[in-house]
Amino acid sequence: MAPEFATNEEIVRQARRRLNQEAWDYLTGASESETSMRRNRAGFDRLAFLPRTLVDVSNVDTSTTLMGHKLNAPVILAPMGTLQTLDREGGAASTKAAAEFGTLHVVSSVTQPSLEDISAATDAPKIFQLYIRGDWSWVEEMLGRINAAGYKGLCITVDTAVQSRRERVMMNRLARGGGSDRNPLYPATVTWDLLDKIKETAGLPLMVKGIATAADASLAVEHGVDVVWVSNHGGRQLDHNRGTMDMLPEIVGVVGGRAEVIMDGGVQRGGDVAKALALGAKAVAIGKLQGWGLGADGAAGVQRVLEILSEELFVAMSLLGVTSVDQLTPGYVCPADIMTTPHEMSSWVNMPGDRLL
Ligand code: LAC
Repeated sequence: MAPEFATNEEIVRQARRRLNQEAWDYLTGASESETSMRRNRAGFDRLAFLPRTLVDVSNVDTSTTLMGHKLNAPVILAPMGTLQTLDREGGAASTKAAAEFGTLHVVSSVTQPSLEDISAATDAPKIFQLYIRGDWSWVEEMLGRINAAGYKGLCITVDTAVQSRRERVMMNRLARGGGSDRNPLYPATVTWDLLDKIKETAGLPLMVKGIATAADASLAVEHGVDVVWVSNHGGRQLDHNRGTMDMLPEIVGVVGGRAEVIMDGGVQRGGDVAKALALGAKAVAIGKLQGWGLGADGAAGVQRVLEILSEELFVAMSLLGVTSVDQLTPGYVCPADIMTTPHEMSSWVNMPGDRLL
């Protein structure tokens, strides 16, 4: 048996060895200058911890709940397309890893196998992320399938009105190029009115993923959204957006406890999870790191990613002097200098950036 991965850096390196260039670029890259992606990391790096000592931390619990479901750590699996290019089991592998670890998988509209097959892969609760790719009758049919397959919630991604320019991929001549009319995946006509209609018809708890401003967070709450998902799509959509940790405090403020707030974007360490929770997130989601786990070793690799993150979170909480995730508050972090140049894998000591790997 292969030795178990000890760090997530080992997992990233193994994924790099196993994935072909196209799959690697699609997973690891972002849009245009990749500034949004780097700002995601910078947002974490700009915070230092304020630890408290002489607290009994012999019993630290990393678990939480989201949408009423128990999570063994506040880390869920973000919806990701084309998981089948990373592992032959595709989305079913991520679902199995989530179930084994004890967290939620938000299953992407654009991953294989079918939503029914992914649902059947485990008994664990899971959420379905829907891209609107048809007229209302198409949406109704999809909502029927999602409910029939037993999904416990619906996620609508709202930062994808048009296809962004992912230049690493474009320069491989694999992309169809940018623009609103080239790829029906990108739903340029979706508005808050349609969201209301979807929520009413689906009858499922609703996550809205891709909220980047307090103004939209406020609207999301007015529209009865259950989970406000702070995201810039891992830096893969609008370039020169803010990093998500820079969006989080004002969004948490405006939501004011009327919905659960989660975030994603550049989460690579348990310490990142602790920082996001300190600023008010209920949980975080992982995209790239999930993909690297899948590329390294399928479902087992994703499970190991989650275990390592959770172990790091346990260590961070213990050394901060907190025993449960609800004790993490803004008082445990403060502004600090950035010590490394932020990039898509800069939280690992030996990582020069993937183009050099
Ligand atoms: C992406 C789309 C498919 O980020 O969500 O690649």
